[in-house]
Amino acid sequence: MSFAVVILAAGQGTRMKSKLPKVLHKIIDVPMVQLVVESAREAGATQIVVITGHQAELVEQQFADQSDVVCVRQKAQIGTANAVAVARPVLDVSHEHVVVLSGDTPLMKAATVQSLVETCRAQSAAMTVLTAIQPNPFGYGRIVRGETDEISRIVEQKDADERESLINEVNTGTYCFNQNKLFAILPQIKNENAAGEYYLTDTVALFCQESDIVCAVCADDADETLGVNSRSQLAYATSVLQNRINTYWMDEGVTLLDPNSVWISPHATLERDVEVLPNSFILGTSNISEDAIVGPSSRVVDSAIGASASVDSSIVLSSTVGERACVGPRAYIRPNCTVEAGAKVGTSVEIKNTHIGLGSKVPHLSYIGDAAIGAQTNIGAGTITCNYDGVTKSQTIIGDNVFIGSDTMLVAPVTIESEATVGAGSVITKDVPAQSLAIERTEQRIIDGWSVRKRKGNK
Ligand code: UD1
Ligand code: CA
Repeated sequence: MSFAVVILAAGQGTRMKSKLPKVLHKIIDVPMVQLVVESAREAGATQIVVITGHQAELVEQQFADQSDVVCVRQKAQIGTANAVAVARPVLDVSHEHVVVLSGDTPLMKAATVQSLVETCRAQSAAMTVLTAIQPNPFGYGRIVRGETDEISRIVEQKDADERESLINEVNTGTYCFNQNKLFAILPQIKNENAAGEYYLTDTVALFCQESDIVCAVCADDADETLGVNSRSQLAYATSVLQNRINTYWMDEGVTLLDPNSVWISPHATLERDVEVLPNSFILGTSNISEDAIVGPSSRVVDSAIGASASVDSSIVLSSTVGERACVGPRAYIRPNCTVEAGAKVGTSVEIKNTHIGLGSKVPHLSYIGDAAIGAQTNIGAGTITCNYDGVTKSQTIIGDNVFIGSDTMLVAPVTIESEATVGAGSVITKDVPAQSLAIERTEQRIIDGWSVRKRKGNK
């Protein structure tokens, strides 16, 4: 079954009180409209059109590198019927059905989209509306049913009378239309209503008048159809998605000590027997391998964490952490780092654009930037790569089985070859050959009896 999806995302979203267009507000770490595009894709849409308008450039930027998404601008936001009309020139006429989704309804599942298309096809309907029972229907369009319980029209909040306001079956803003019938009826829609807008919801009454078939399918789960118009609805939608994702991973064999305090991106993957401890975020396209432990209080973004590795109270950004490697507590791994198997990036250590070889250790209080460290090397506490001279960034290269004493300054560019040793407290500005000792300190002096003379006042 081939169908097109049109996603309405041109509105401002005044109630968000934000400089960002509403549909770009994120649920966990994915903009709402992106989530909607992804469920359209998953449902099998053969064409995806996003209608932009308010701050169109920003919304279009979101899809700049997604070649299966076409954005079309709606000049003025004069209503949802007009928003759908502007999609017409780009829609492939071969699609019998066009699904309309809202960019602010981010929790819609692919299976629900598919079932709408199925119903429309099976019933030869002009349109199928997805409805939901909302305990608090305020703000939504209400579903008005006739004597035989058939849907007869949708009345918007602003236009509803007292009796209609009590209806708690609402329009979710999700529809499947027969394409030909949709574009034949749209020109008949008028803006004679409280908002002065061209309402897409008027299609229901118009089709009914023409004795075309209109189906209403009620969603099993009202949360799935939640429309986000305010920050508190955004927070609620986030908690619904968080719960959905966490339940999925627990069912797949992941332990979450406190699921309410763990946020996992819909784009992240976790393997069996992973454990995620409280106050942790696994974001972007991260992958956490078997038996790894993340948390407490950690944030892993676009990174791969190897099997049995641990990330304790730390941040890992766009990097790879190998098997059995230990990160933290309080480590900061900035982009483009590789921590090989069994290596350690310990307490209060910051690394950036750095390779740490097999089994090597940076255990305490270091900054290592733009460095390549071989295998089985130990970097003493407080060691710093001085990679920046105020103008350019330079590299530090350290071989295998090197021992760097504590509090060493490695002034880049500099190379420490394999099996070399650097004495504690050195400022290393020249390359150190393999198997040698480099030490850079003034010699220690001993002044006998100094304290006694100081007390007496004559040093
Ligand atoms: C709409 C429905 C309402 C339904 C609710 C579900 C209409 C008239 N009303 O109301 O029945 O219960 O969604 O969430 O359709 N948009 C455009 N161009 C426009 C106007 C809106 O692209 O000119 C977009 C918005 O960006 C948004 C979507 O369409 O993504 C819905 O618009 P919104 O203003 O949020 O409509 P609601 O009042 O929520
Ligand atoms: Ca809305």
